[in-house]
Parts: sequence; structure tokens; C-alpha cells
Amino acid sequence: MRFEVDFLVVGSGIAGLSYALKVAPYGKVCILTKGDAAEGSTRYAQGGIAAVMYDSDSFDKHIQDTLVAGDGICNREVVEMTIREAPDRIRELVQYGVNFDLDRKGDKFDLHREGGHSEFRILHHKDNTGEEIERGLLEAARRHPNIEIKERQFAIDIITQHHLGQRVTKHTPNIECYGVYALDCDTNRIDTYLSRVTLLATGGMGNVYSTTTTPVISTGDGVAMVHRARGVLADLEFMQFHPTSLYNPAEKPAFLITEAMRGAGAILKDRDGKEFMQKYDSRLSLAPRDIVARAIDNEMKLSGKDYLYLDARGIGKKHLIEGFPTIYAKCLSIGIDITRDMIPIRPAAHYQCGGIKVDRNGESSIHNLYAAGECSCTGLHGGNRLASNSLLEAVVYAHNAAQATISTYLQIDLSTHRQVPDWNAEGMVLNEEMVLITQTKKELQEIMWNYVGIVRSDLRLQRAFDRLNLIFRETEDLYNRSVLTEPLSELRNLIACAYLIIKMARARRENVGLHYSLDLIEKKV
Ligand code: FAD
Ligand code: SIN
Repeated sequence: MRFEVDFLVVGSGIAGLSYALKVAPYGKVCILTKGDAAEGSTRYAQGGIAAVMYDSDSFDKHIQDTLVAGDGICNREVVEMTIREAPDRIRELVQYGVNFDLDRKGDKFDLHREGGHSEFRILHHKDNTGEEIERGLLEAARRHPNIEIKERQFAIDIITQHHLGQRVTKHTPNIECYGVYALDCDTNRIDTYLSRVTLLATGGMGNVYSTTTTPVISTGDGVAMVHRARGVLADLEFMQFHPTSLYNPAEKPAFLITEAMRGAGAILKDRDGKEFMQKYDSRLSLAPRDIVARAIDNEMKLSGKDYLYLDARGIGKKHLIEGFPTIYAKCLSIGIDITRDMIPIRPAAHYQCGGIKVDRNGESSIHNLYAAGECSCTGLHGGNRLASNSLLEAVVYAHNAAQATISTYLQIDLSTHRQVPDWNAEGMVLNEEMVLITQTKKELQEIMWNYVGIVRSDLRLQRAFDRLNLIFRETEDLYNRSVLTEPLSELRNLIACAYLIIKMARARRENVGLHYSLDLIEKKV
């Protein structure tokens, strides 16, 4: 089937929904989402969203913290713009119906602190902030008459001049986006969505790794689509590993233990119950994430252990149960009483700092294609994202993209779009051997975890690249013979993302932010 809309949004997390709500008064909006609308990283966000709301803090301090965490390679202009816009975007979230916790008096927001922040500035809703944001935005979007949310619709590819038979390379000037092809996961039909403006808000790619806090939908689809469409991507070597996911090996995704717990006083300890962060950084357990994750990784390697501990007992029973109810209940469900026991933790792949390169308006290198949220690369995070700056970036760039598209979308003529042919699946057969896909995915995730993880080396990257090559060839062969399915498409996307991470990691010849190679240690200035 063919559909035509003004604004096409791929993804229904904080970025996609925020954008949709802003453009909806101006035209018809269609949101495609590959699972249930509420599923995505947004709903699992625990700690909260960073913003300077009161005079006790300052924009300058938040800017400085972001630049320091980013290890000197953030785009300063972007950092300043994002942080100064934050209070307005927070007020809008509240207007959409999102609740943040208030302090005891009830007249100000209750603020938490996380690693790398010099002040208490994290707005939150207990320890389930993302669930509250997703609820508020989704309810607002569902109420809007101009927004249609289509669940279980898997965007496969961005439509460009390539689909009109023209040769498109990364050097082609003026690549244009006409919409996307999407697989209806219930009927297996591939539909053509034509749009004046398309926004990718497809989230992260944590499932490139075997241990990740991100949900199963985080397979880097947006990044892979832009790669295939010859758009510009950046900074993919900067994969952020969260220092403290709950050690519970059978569980996927790994359950997160929020950094706000360390902000409230929880301390990292080794398996003998001794503190170790003093060996690595004067900010101890509250140093930026790249430093803490590397310290934990090193301690685990030195001791040969699979996990270390987070000791939250000093926070006090009342505060733990009332302030961190989700974590308290989760740990209790596997026999850990966090008011009495230390929490076993290990790092897990958590957030992709790089992605689809966009300008200040959220526009990618492909005309009429915008990106916001975790799939994008704005320059805010540099080499390492400051905690709780991700939800913030998503709302700021959704706003900027909405402003830019509202003023231009009517000038975009749909006559070329209408020449786009439907997807051609002739001659394809249904691949019935799911094991080919599931096993390859596992192999890929292990390769990335073992060779392209927290600590890298030239040899490890080369090994990963060689092994990936084989997996790539086998999967492309399968793709060329098979009817397209969601698992096969996700696997191809994960392979493309892994390839891009390795390629960019090999090109980065200094240790900066989250990219840390044993072969580059001396070159650190
Ligand atoms: P998501 O919320 O991940 O949504 C992606 C959407 O895209 C989904 O709707 C998905 O179905 C859809 N999609 C993807 N591919 C396709 C496709 N091919 N076709 C159709 N639809 C598609 N950040 C903070 O700032 N503060 C925090 O406290 C915080 N805590 C976190 C805790 C956890 C456990 C995790 C995993 C992340 C956390 N983060 C936090 C990071 C933050 O939650 C995410 O970066 C952010 O929510 C991403 O929002 P998004 O809208 O870009 O993507
Ligand atoms: C956390 O709550 O520790 C996650 C915060 C983030 O990823 O920004």
C-alpha cells in the first residue's frame, strides 16, 4: 500500500513523540514504530533529565560539566544552546502532562545528582523517570487528532533518488529523502510511505553488544538506513558503557542501577568490600562514566571476577525504599535486599554518543531527512555523554527540528515522490531457518563485546573486523535470497553498525572520551 503524509516520524520515544506533538498543528503526522508504541529506551530511563532550573545552579556550570565529560571534543556552541534551552523544554514536558517529583515543601522540583555533575540538577520521577515521560507524551500524542501512531511497522530503508534508478554515492550532492519503505510486521507486506519531511527517532544500537541495558528494539536501524542511503554519520566509536548494571547474567537486557544512587551516596567496592575508585579519579564513584566504567573493567580483569559491588546501604532504608522503589523491588525479586546487601554490578553497553550527523536544526546531510534523540549526533556529547543529557538533547533537537520543518515543509513538492516505485520482492523465498539469524546475532554480539568493548587495541579491532567480514557476507547472501523479515533486517542493521563502530574506532588515533585503546596510551596528552 502507499501512504502520503506531511510529517513522517520513525520512532515513538521521547524524540519522536516530542517532534510529532510540535508539528501536529501544521499537518498530518504519521508515527511508525516497530513494536508497541511505549517500547524503547525512553521508558527505561531511570535517573532523569538534566536542566538548570534555579539560581543555586548556573548554565555555565552545566556547560562546563558537559564539556569536561565530553573530554574536550564537544561542539561548544551546541552545548551552550542545548543547556540554555533546557528550562523551556522542561516546562513544555510538564505542560504535556509529565510529572516530576517535587521537594518536601512542594514548590520546587526535587533534584538529584549524577556522575560528572557539579550540582544537583537532575529532574526525576522517583527512579522511573522515563516511564513517566513516555506515558505523558504518548497520552498527549494519542489525544491529538492530526497524529496517527502505527505500531508494528518496521522502517526498512529511506527512499532516495536511488529508488528512482539514479546512481547515488556518498559524493552525490543533494541526496533527497522521499519517505521510507516499511514492513507491516503483522501482514509481512512492505508499504511505501511518502512524506514531505521525515524524522528518524529510532534510538540507540546497544544490541550490537552481548551485555546491554538497552531494550531489544535498540538495533541501530536509523543509523544503518542512513549508511545505506549514503548519508553522513559521525562519532560511532564513542559507545558509552554504563558502569552499574545489575549482575544477573541470565537477564536480557541488563537491569540498570541508576547513577543517581551514587549521587545519593552509594559507593563502588571490590569483591572484598573495599573502595577502589581513589586509585583512578579524585571524584571517586561520581567521576564521569567513561572513567568509572574503565576502572571497574580494570578491577574485574585484575581480580578475574565477573562483578563488583555497589554499596547503597549508607543511603538509609527509608530513602532507598521511597526514592528508588523500582530498583529496591527488582533486587528483592532476585534475593538482594539493597538496604542490607551490596548490589552486584558490572558495566553494560548503554548509549551511543555518535549517530546520524545533524546540524543545529536536526537536519541530516540528506535533504528533508531529520534525526533526533539517540540515533543522532549533534555534537553535544563529544567523546562521552554527561549523565541525563540524553533525554535533554532529544527534546531540544525535536523542538529545533520542528521549528525548522514547520517553516519549510509546504515548499516541498510531492510530484517526484509520487514516481517512487513500490518495493520489489519478486523471486524471494521465506527463510525458515531462524537459527541462521539468531546464531549470527549472538556471534556478532560476542565479537563486539570481546574485541570492541571498553578497552580496545589495534589487534582486537583487526580481529573483530575480520570476523565481521565473514558474518557480513553470509548475511548479505541470505538477504539477497530471502523475503525480508524484521529479525533479518535488524541483523543487517546491527552488522552495519558494528562495521561503522570498528571503522571509526580504527580511524581515531588518540585515546579520548570513551575510545580507549591500549596501543594509544602514550599518545594521551
Ligand atoms: P527510544 O526511546 O529508544 O525510541 C526509539 C523508537 O524508535 C522506538 O519507538 C522504536 O520502536 C522505534 N524504532 C526503532 N527502529 C525502528 C524501525 N526500523 N522502524 C520503526 N520504528 C523503529 N538518558 C537520560 O538522559 N537520563 C536517564 O536517566 C537515562 N536512563 C537510561 C536508562 C536506561 C536503562 C537506558 C537504556 C537508557 C537511559 N538513558 C537515559 C538514555 C535515554 O533513555 C535514551 O537515549 C533516550 O530515551 C532515547 O530516546 P529516543 O526517542 O531517541 O529513542
Ligand atoms: C542512570 O540513571 O544512571 C542513567 C542516566 C543516563 O543514562 O543518563
